[in-house]
Amino acid sequence: MTSTLTIRRPDDWHLHLRDGAMLRAVLPETARHFGRAIIMPNLVPPVVTGAQAAAYRDRILAALPEGSDFTPLMTLYLTEDSDPADVEAAHASGLIRAVKLYPAGATTNSASGVTNFDKVRPVLEKMAGIGLPLCVHGEVTDADIDIFDREAVFIDRILDPIRRSTPGLRVVMEHITTSDAVDYARSQGSDLGATITTHHLVINRNHILAGGIKPHYYCLPVAKREEHRLALRAAATSGEARFFLGTDSAPHTDANKLLPCGCAGCFTATNTMSILAQVFEEDSALGRLERFASLNGPAFYGLPPHDSTLTLEKKTPDYPAQISTDDGPVTVFDPGFPLTWRVA
Ligand code: DOR
Ligand code: ZN
Repeated sequence: MTSTLTIRRPDDWHLHLRDGAMLRAVLPETARHFGRAIIMPNLVPPVVTGAQAAAYRDRILAALPEGSDFTPLMTLYLTEDSDPADVEAAHASGLIRAVKLYPAGATTNSASGVTNFDKVRPVLEKMAGIGLPLCVHGEVTDADIDIFDREAVFIDRILDPIRRSTPGLRVVMEHITTSDAVDYARSQGSDLGATITTHHLVINRNHILAGGIKPHYYCLPVAKREEHRLALRAAATSGEARFFLGTDSAPHTDANKLLPCGCAGCFTATNTMSILAQVFEEDSALGRLERFASLNGPAFYGLPPHDSTLTLEKKTPDYPAQISTDDGPVTVFDPGFPLTWRVA
């Protein structure tokens, strides 16, 4: 039986670090295992301009533990007022690696997102020209669309039309949750990638709702039926280049999760590598974990994989159930089964 596994150092291609006290508390959890991460720009106010992204990067670097060589890969938050010239300059200087599209109202801090997609056409055309990827939160926000259908409807109504009308635009379908998204990703060329979270490989919608409501399993896009979870597992463990890890680790204090109207997000930075090793082992795919966590993402983003490595060993991991922050505790995602791998 395999008792250790060494892979290139992994990266997280979708991460929420927040700011201030929360940033200082959660950043070490990611920097401990991951070399780089695509940093989501949905702060309040959002990170819209190159100047804002530069300032946020400086705050992240200042919050890093002593001696850490973790690299934050910055993004801009796309608004209907985003300036193509500012986006181009931020990309040319090496500051940003992607632009994030939130449909207005789709999720946490998305109020400044896009309602009229025609208004962002000049930015998207500029991005296609310079090869800057668009990271997409793929859910429609229409009140008359069932929340469990919002991803599939987004693909038909928004994503596919954008792709057809913007040839050459590199797109990442973020945190996919359905077999519809897996199928769509597979139907497209190498200019389309898709990230998959840790928690969507583990939970389906029953975990949130059956036997009592579990706020810590509530995230957006919300977990779907079991058949969708199995499609995500097959995609992640396939080793196919278009699928890579984006944890969407999204810390909220317990006080903000356990409200009558609680926040969306699962905090998985701490135990993601243990959970992934378990998932890939269960699916007889340990040998493909490196592609999902360490190789496919850099290839999509045109970056080299790390030379350094991360070793997992077959031992029970030891981490706290909650991370303490000056804003209050943040609960670490509970996979609901015993974990048997830990980072050495
Ligand atoms: O569950 C989520 N939490 N989904 C998102 O899209 C945003 C994130 C957050 O920022 O908390
Ligand atoms: Zn996210």
